[in-house]
This record gives sequence, structure tokens and C-alpha cells, in this order.
Amino acid sequence: MASKKQDKQEKQEKVERGVARIDIGLSEVDRAKIADGLSALLADSYTLYLMTHNFHWNVTGPMFNTLHVMFMQQYTEQWTALDLIAERIRALGFPAPGTYREFVERASIKEIEGVPKALEMVRSLVAAQEATARTARSLFPVVNDANDQPSADLLTQRLEVHEKTAWMLRSLLED
Ligand SMILES: [Fe+2]
Repeated sequence: MASKKQDKQEKQEKVERGVARIDIGLSEVDRAKIADGLSALLADSYTLYLMTHNFHWNVTGPMFNTLHVMFMQQYTEQWTALDLIAERIRALGFPAPGTYREFVERASIKEIEGVPKALEMVRSLVAAQEATARTARSLFPVVNDANDQPSADLLTQRLEVHEKTAWMLRSLLED
């Protein structure tokens, strides 16, 4: 068993290395699990963001104006959310992923090749919105068990946006 003196020395060394102890009432194991889940959500959110911006640029056809503007509103909201997710990971004491390599590895959404037709873009976005919602929802039990309210709040907000946006996009596909 480590003595108190050793503990104190270890703590001091960590502080000197810039790794300050985090004592917010969440265990390191729980913080690590939640940060990992939020990293997966960040990867899906970034992939969805880029897909939406790509379609904003490349959409064509009779629905051009509606979709061009709608996609812009969506990617603008998503861009702001990326920051909130990444900064929650940081507040839990872990580095936020920030490279395309990590996002491709972690994302459950597959990137779309080429330039699809307008309605195919909408279909792909419905699937990507739903996938992002599933990723957020799958983290909920972990966050609830750990008693992590800020992460639960963030997940609730993201779920609300992704489910509502999926409904709006889905509605464009109906007659
Ligand atoms: Fe634009």
C-alpha cells in the first residue's frame, strides 16, 4: 500500500507535469467511459456536418433553393454542437479527437462518394441523422449510471435536434 507521503509526492509530480487531479465527483473510470462515448458522438457529428455542408455545395435540381438553404441551417447548428461535445470531453479530463483519421475510424456513418441526386442526398442525411441519434442514445445508460448530468443534458439536446431534423428530412421524401 502506498504511503500518504508517496501519494502526496505523486500528486505533486502530476501537478508539475500539468496533469492536475480532477475531483468532480465522477470516478476516472466513468469519466473515461463517457469521454470515449462522446468521442464516438463527435466522430459521427463531424461526419454528418461535413456531409451536410458537401450537399449544400453540390445539390442541384428543382428543389435547389429549399435544400441549399435547409442544409445551411443544419450544418451551422451542427458546427456549434461539435464544439460543445469536444469541450465536454475536455472537462471530463481527456483529449478530444480532432483529426480526419480518428473521425473516420470512430464514425458509424459511411461517407458518400461522388455527387448524388437531390433526393438521394436527403435519404443519406436521414440515415446519418438517425445514426448520430443512435450513437447519442447508446451512451445514455453509462451517463445516467455515473450521475453525469451535464453529459446527459448535452445528449438530450443532441437527440432532440437529430430526431427532429430526421423527421423534417424524411417528410421531404413523402408525396
Ligand atoms: Fe454557402
